Amino acid sequence: MALPIASRTPAPPDPVLGLTEAFRADTRPGRVNLSAGVYVDDTGITPVLPSVLAAEGRILAAQTTKVYRPIDGDAAYRTAVRDLVFGTDHEIVTSGRSATSHTPGGTGALRVAADFLAQEGSPRTVWVSDPTWPNHPAIFGAAGFRIRPYPYVRPGERHVAIDAMLEALGEAEAGDLLLLHGSCHNPTGVDPSPAEWERIGGLVERRELLPLVDFAYQGFGDGLREDASWQRAIARPGREFLLASSFSKNFALYNERVGALTVVATDRAAADSAQSHVKVTIRANYSNPPSHGAEIVTTILGDPALRAQWEVELAGMRGRIHANRRLLVAALEARRIPGDWAPIAGERGMFALLNLSKDQVRRLREEHAVYVVGAGRINVAGITATNLDPFADAVAAVVEG
Ligand SMILES: Cc1ncc(COP(=O)(O)O)c(C=O)c1O
Repeated sequence: MALPIASRTPAPPDPVLGLTEAFRADTRPGRVNLSAGVYVDDTGITPVLPSVLAAEGRILAAQTTKVYRPIDGDAAYRTAVRDLVFGTDHEIVTSGRSATSHTPGGTGALRVAADFLAQEGSPRTVWVSDPTWPNHPAIFGAAGFRIRPYPYVRPGERHVAIDAMLEALGEAEAGDLLLLHGSCHNPTGVDPSPAEWERIGGLVERRELLPLVDFAYQGFGDGLREDASWQRAIARPGREFLLASSFSKNFALYNERVGALTVVATDRAAADSAQSHVKVTIRANYSNPPSHGAEIVTTILGDPALRAQWEVELAGMRGRIHANRRLLVAALEARRIPGDWAPIAGERGMFALLNLSKDQVRRLREEHAVYVVGAGRINVAGITATNLDPFADAVAAVVEG
C-alpha cells in the first residue's frame, strides 16, 4: 500500500463546485442555484455564443490535422490576446517587452505563473485579497507559496478598504507577489477606483512588488477597454508584471479551457528569456495546450465582422448582469430586508456578496433550497424572472427570522 495515508479520508468538496454537486442531488421543486461561477441567460442556460458557433464552423471546415501545437501556443493566438488586453499601440506592445503563452484557462495561467516563479528555490510570498476566489490560495499553496491576505473589502462593507490594504502591504518585501483582480473582483464585485489604482501602483513601485493581475472578466464590468483601467497603475513604462487572462466568461468557452499567461519584462530580450523558462514549466506540466478554444478566440478576434458580433454578444451579457443587479436591489429593498443593498446596483462583474452569516447561508440551503457560496456570494447572472422573488423571500426569511 503506497497511496498517501491522507488519501484514505475523503477530501472536503470544492467550496464552489461542490455546491453545484449538492444542488444537482437536491430534488426539491423550485430550488435555486446562485453558487456557480458561470453566466446563464434568463432561461437558466449557458448558451454557446453565436459568434463562437460561426467560428467553429469555419475551423472545422478548414481543419486538416490534430497535430500538437507549440508549447506556448500558436503565434496568432498569442498576438491576438496581447492586443486584446493592451491595444496595438501600447508601449508594451510596440517595445515587444511582453511574451504571452496559451494556457488551459485562467486557472492554468495562474498555475504556470506560480510554478514559473517558484523555480527560484526559496519559497515566495503571495499577497491575496481578503476575501478572494478560493482557488487563489489553493493554486499558490500547491506551488509552495506562503499565502498572506491583505484586507480588501471588510465584512459588511461595500468599498475597497484602501488604507488598511496599503498598510498591510507595507509589510511586504521586495519581490513578493501581489495578486490583484483586474476587474470584477470575485467575490465582492467591488473594484478599486482610478485614484485607488494609482495608490496601489505607487505602493507596488515603492515596495518593489511583482504584480500578478488576474483578468478573468475582461468586458464583464464596463467594457473591454474600460475594464483595463488597472493598466494605468500597473503597466507603467519599464515595470515588470504578470497577467493571467481567461476566456471562459467573456467568450463563454468554459469547457474549452482557454486562457493565457503574459509575462511583461523590462525589455524584449528579458521577455524572450523569461518566456523560455515559462515554456520549460509548461513542458513539464501539460506539455502543450489544447487548441480548439484558442482557434475560436483567434478566429473571432481576427475577423472584423465576427469580432463586432462578439462584442455585441458580450455587451448583451454585461447589460443583463447590470439589469439583474438593479432588479435584485429592488427586490431586497421592497421586502425591507435590513442591509446596505443599493450599492450592489453599481458593482461589477458576475458576483455580489450579500454578507450573510454561515448560519443564514446554511438555512437558505436547508430550509429554502437556495444555494449560495461562503458569506452569501451570489451569481447575479443566475437571477431570472422565475427565481428572483422566491430568492428574495428566502433571504428575507433567514435575515429576519
Ligand atoms: C477570479 C478568477 N480567476 C480565474 C478564474 C479562472 O477561470 P478559468 O480557469 O475557468 O478560465 C476564475 C473563474 O471562476 C475566477 O473567478
